[in-house]
Amino acid sequence: MKAIVAVTNDFGIGKDGDLLFNIPEDKRFFRAQTTGGTVIMGRKTFLSLPGGALKNRENIVLTRNPDFKAEGAVVCHSADELLSLIDNHDSDKTFVIGGGEIYSLLLDRCDTILVTKIDAVRESDTFFPNVDASPLWTLSEESEEKSFEGVSYRFCTYVKS
Ligand SMILES: NC(=O)c1ccc[n+]([C@@H]2O[C@H](COP(=O)([O-])OP(=O)(O)OC[C@H]3O[C@@H](n4cnc5c(N)ncnc54)[C@H](OP(=O)(O)O)[C@@H]3O)[C@@H](O)[C@H]2O)c1
Repeated sequence: MKAIVAVTNDFGIGKDGDLLFNIPEDKRFFRAQTTGGTVIMGRKTFLSLPGGALKNRENIVLTRNPDFKAEGAVVCHSADELLSLIDNHDSDKTFVIGGGEIYSLLLDRCDTILVTKIDAVRESDTFFPNVDASPLWTLSEESEEKSFEGVSYRFCTYVKS
């Protein structure tokens, strides 16, 4: 299983339920990576999706609420229930897509993290673990620096050390 995330310099990932940046090439990268696969997300991230469940992907939503219904998605109520559901999935095409709580819950189960590193800081209330400071993760690939509207970013791949 992989995680996919866009972080700022202090590993901020969101504020008030929204993303910090909208970078078109990052959206295309996310779509290209995840299409045809499975995306796993928390209830808050699911509810933040402007068009509801992501098309051409199996959507799985985690919530502790037994009554929660998510149109176009399978609902899971615990990490154990999720892990048995995805047991026979292709782990290369199974993605944890956030948010903060769900990354924290499932990062130990991931072997790869696709990190879009945005060279900026924005006020954030939700963060990703600092993988650069963690002995558990090693930077294995890094794209050249790209830029959109004056904001620089790189696509980075981290693998379990
Ligand atoms: N930059 C990025 O790449 C990126 C990606 C995704 C999201 N985000 C941002 O992240 C923020 C949302 O993150 P968040 O941490 O607030 O919320 P979240 O992780 O999307 O969802 C949290 C919810 O997941 C459910 N949950 C958590 N642990 C669970 C468990 N063990 N079992 C079952 N359900 C569980 C709970 O739902 P219930 O309350 O219903 O029980 C909880 O309220 C937003 O700002 C969003 O834009 C950023």
